Amino acid sequence: MANVGVLGAGSWGTALALLLEKNGHDVTIWSIDKKEVEMLNQKREHESKLPGVRIPDEIVITNDLESAIKGKDFLVLAVPSPFTRSTAKSMAPYVTDGQIIVDVAKGIEETTLMTLSEQIKDEIPQANVAVLSGPSHAEEVGRGLPTIVVIGAKTQETAQYLQEAFASKVFRVYTSSDIKGIELGGSLKNVIALAAGMADGMGYGDNTKAALITRGIAEISRLGIKMGGKVETFSGLTGIGDLIVTCASVHSRNRKAGYLMGQGKTMQEAMDEVKMVVEGVYSAKAALKLGKQYDVSMPIVEKVNEILFEGKSAEDAVNELMLRDNRSEHSSLPWE
Ligand SMILES: NC(=O)c1ccc[n+]([C@@H]2O[C@H](COP(=O)([O-])OP(=O)(O)OC[C@H]3O[C@@H](n4cnc5c(N)ncnc54)[C@H](O)[C@@H]3O)[C@@H](O)[C@H]2O)c1
Repeated sequence: MANVGVLGAGSWGTALALLLEKNGHDVTIWSIDKKEVEMLNQKREHESKLPGVRIPDEIVITNDLESAIKGKDFLVLAVPSPFTRSTAKSMAPYVTDGQIIVDVAKGIEETTLMTLSEQIKDEIPQANVAVLSGPSHAEEVGRGLPTIVVIGAKTQETAQYLQEAFASKVFRVYTSSDIKGIELGGSLKNVIALAAGMADGMGYGDNTKAALITRGIAEISRLGIKMGGKVETFSGLTGIGDLIVTCASVHSRNRKAGYLMGQGKTMQEAMDEVKMVVEGVYSAKAALKLGKQYDVSMPIVEKVNEILFEGKSAEDAVNELMLRDNRSEHSSLPWE
């Protein structure tokens, strides 16, 4: 059994800490927020992030970063993506050579266009960075509902070690060597989920949703493959799988923010109402820049950016998407 430090006490960090504790590991949760640590130690439940799920007394909850890292067999980095770099910077002095950090957040840094594992490596070069992703809402993992994810790592040895540590009868884990593809699928789907939410908010139907999901994964794959991700990854759990759950689920904060915008709220009003970090808003700008840099057509990403940052109405954006030049679905397929 392993000694594990989970960094970040939000919905996902808490749900994964519970899963790891149930698997028999010694778990410490760290939060930057002293008040959150006090509240969790007192109530043993995260009422606002993971209501109704008790945190066992065996899990240590601390505000001391060094003790959450020192001597741990692996670390789970579960802070929302805008805080990944700053948290990694604070962690760096305590992380030993080859210590495993599993990043479970999803996002792309707007300024550097780096994925999260790249940011972590940038701040903690001595770390062995892996990723965990896939269709996995904390609310369902916290309740022990069957879930399947993928762990990506540099070596098969690390991937299989983590697979063993996380796997349970309700949490199946596949391994993969395609860290880049996993991270791109996980972050870009949030932008498409905003669009899917907007479509729901405007009262559009299942046809629209299915079209957004299908054309969305086409955009994500085109860009991801050009950036070095593998085609198989985008048709797997961390690609189309995560996109489906994020576009369809009531738990998705990106879909919810989009829904509110589809009903006429501004981006700020929607973010305030969701009360959590809406990562798709950050990833949207990065996705647009990456599309330009890699010369990839990303019409849905472009329209989401125009709605978020240029005041375009969602209705106008849909009309423009529908009236784009006629073309074939797969330009690579030859005609007789
Ligand atoms: N919630 C899910 O179902 C889920 C599932 C899969 C992946 N993820 C990903 O995991 C990441 C975390 O998601 P979440 O739902 O737990 O988010 P969350 O909004 O619930 O996380 C908030 C927590 O982050 C920590 N935090 C807040 N500000 C911080 C700061 N400045 N520095 C360091 N830590 C800070 C605090 O512990 C806080 O409780 C995201 O990237 C998300 O996309 C979430």
